[in-house]
Amino acid sequence: MGFPQLIEEDFQCLDQALKELLGKTDADAALLVEKAGHLIHLAGEQNAFPPDVLATLASNSFNAVQFMAGLLNEDKFPGLYQQGERCSTLMLNVDEHCMLVIIFRADISVGAVRYYAQETAKTIANQIKVAQERAPSVSFDLTDLNVADVQALFRRKDESPASAPAAEAAPEGAVAADPPEPETPMEPLMAKRSPYIVTLNAGAHWWCACGRSQNQPFCDGAHKGTGLKPLQVEVAESKRVALCGCKHTHNPPYCDGTHAKLPVS
Ligand code: FES
Ligand code: FES
Repeated sequence: MGFPQLIEEDFQCLDQALKELLGKTDADAALLVEKAGHLIHLAGEQNAFPPDVLATLASNSFNAVQFMAGLLNEDKFPGLYQQGERCSTLMLNVDEHCMLVIIFRADISVGAVRYYAQETAKTIANQIKVAQERAPSVSFDLTDLNVADVQALFRRKDESPASAPAAEAAPEGAVAADPPEPETPMEPLMAKRSPYIVTLNAGAHWWCACGRSQNQPFCDGAHKGTGLKPLQVEVAESKRVALCGCKHTHNPPYCDGTHAKLPVS
């Protein structure tokens, strides 16, 4: 089963749960990591280590030890503890999708961290269930893929047209002649660091992938000359969705939480 689509209210809940855990345990950082190693969300210290690398390594260790436990006929695998001299790491299972990684000073009791982290894992698992029930047919599967494959998997498809349909196209008076397209597409601009929660009416819509539209989150034709193209999103019936505003999602056009990991300029 793929990872459910998360919207802003899910991220708020996850963020609050992780921050509460840090407040109760005095841990340095708490990461929510998808089991294929994709960092979903992070609270606390993030400058002392590369969060994406840590997420990948943590999931590798977790999966390896869980597999080993399976070979030893252990049906349950609640988590993994690495004891350090300066800081320790606790990894706990959340659900079939993801795990919790907590980094804390070595002088903090692992028992206390584990106790509160179990509560946090339950809160997160419940919210992921809510997300799943909200949009049961929308999910993305990262299992067995490395990050590079994930990016390839979710790369925008090229079959979208060079310009947007009339309903969401550039207003009258906009550029008459199309500028040449560069060989290498330009970087998308961040329209905003959070998703656009919108209700799409039944039919086709064009999500702005370049970040230059003045009619966010929809294309207005401003991508011309950037080498970027809008992405069509079609819905059978009116639907509330979270469209990516940062333009760096790996699951376009939907927000996948990547905005939380982008550097602040
Ligand atoms: Fe068309 Fe951004 S304006 S993709
Ligand atoms: Fe969330 Fe872009 S706004 S991934």
